Amino acid sequence: MKVQFGFSRIELAHGDITQQHVDAIVNAANADLAGGGGVDGAIHRAAGPSVMEETRARYPLGCPPGDAVVTSAGLLPARYLFHAVGPIWRGGQQREAELLRSCVRRCLELAAKHDCQSLALPAISTGAYRFPIDLAAENLLDEIRKFVDGAPRSLIVRVVLFDAGSYGAFARVLESFVDR
Ligand code: APR
Repeated sequence: MKVQFGFSRIELAHGDITQQHVDAIVNAANADLAGGGGVDGAIHRAAGPSVMEETRARYPLGCPPGDAVVTSAGLLPARYLFHAVGPIWRGGQQREAELLRSCVRRCLELAAKHDCQSLALPAISTGAYRFPIDLAAENLLDEIRKFVDGAPRSLIVRVVLFDAGSYGAFARVLESFVDR
């Protein structure tokens, strides 16, 4: 599914984010940038050890929730990796939505700063961090739409969903944007 907003486009794809040929791939990292399972594990396995070495050297203090940092992408078919730290879901009253939006916005700002024309991101926080998928879709897609709509240059933002249920949740929200 693809929807145009201004000069830019939001796309939804079903699959594995490590296979995406884009300028920047977003990782769903933890605050220690220590690696882990899920998409983080898949990305580091596919990228090779140089990315973790670079991450440790450049960001020894990690990265707080709501923020993102950049490294090279190692063996991945991308120029950059953005390591975004989403919130752990704790019931919804701990600024979870705000922190999810903020780490997505930071990735979009990094994409602009590094002259990226395309960016792929996963459904940050919806796995091990347990953010409800419908609410994540609403916040993540709305933050992307706000950023690209009216932006002076074009960016393809592809949200890569690993399973059919997540794809469906994101597709419902993106469809609803077309009629708003
Ligand atoms: N491509 C795309 N999406 C994927 C992939 C993949 N290869 N593997 C998993 N996913 C999806 C999951 O299905 C989920 O919807 O990414 C989403 C985010 O799940 P997690 O990877 O568990 O990320 P998150 O919920 O943000 O938790 C982060 O988990 O792996 C650790 O180090 C990481 O501690 C951090 C925490």
